[in-house]
Amino acid sequence: MTSSGVPILTIDGPSGSGKGTISRAVAQKLGWHYLDSGALYRAVGVAAGWDDTDFSDHAALMRLAFNTRIEFSADGGSEPRVLVDGVDATDELRTETAGAAASAIAAIPEVRAALFEKQRSFLRAPGLVADGRDMGTVVFPEAAYKVFLTASAEERAERRYKQLKDKGLEVTIDGLLREIQARDARDAQRAVAPLKPAPDAILVDTTGVPIEGVVERVLALIPSVPG
Ligand code: DC
Repeated sequence: MTSSGVPILTIDGPSGSGKGTISRAVAQKLGWHYLDSGALYRAVGVAAGWDDTDFSDHAALMRLAFNTRIEFSADGGSEPRVLVDGVDATDELRTETAGAAASAIAAIPEVRAALFEKQRSFLRAPGLVADGRDMGTVVFPEAAYKVFLTASAEERAERRYKQLKDKGLEVTIDGLLREIQARDARDAQRAVAPLKPAPDAILVDTTGVPIEGVVERVLALIPSVPG
């Protein structure tokens, strides 16, 4: 429980750890709201691309982070559509280009500060599942339930390969593995809010574990819900 009385479950971890799928499934089972914080960073990265904003112009990126309207069409359940300034950008947000842009702007303290309140505003009754990199460490440190998901880089590359192949994209496992390793290093080494487990987070390794197994394990942490 938090001072607002609304329970929070944070689910942090690197890309490809299964965070999105697991967080959405858990939020749906609990009937709680869901925050996809990565989508906010992706949306600002994409909006910067639309505007031709220079990534070295931190003041302009901060203004974009404050002013870009980011709306989710559904809360929990199936994957929601994401509207960026009224435009459906769901497919563009999922691309590797958007991921790389998000990772780059996420290293800028002004951008993180600008998105802080936006993220906090998702905290509403009956509860919140917050998915990201720094949910348990920075944005919702008061959360009663914290999970840090991991999976080997090789397995994450394979998962991503299957997803992208299903969408008909031409990618190689080796290329994806290199991208994942580069992004992990950047996210873990940045000076502000680096990717690391909160001291009170429960580590869950999803390598070789089916999604349903991880969902059960996470649900078992929440007292009033049978695991
Ligand atoms: O979870 P994702 O792949 O959609 O996140 C995209 C990028 O955004 C990721 O490389 C790091 C950044 N990010 C972050 O720094 N903090 C968050 N809470 C969520 C995402």
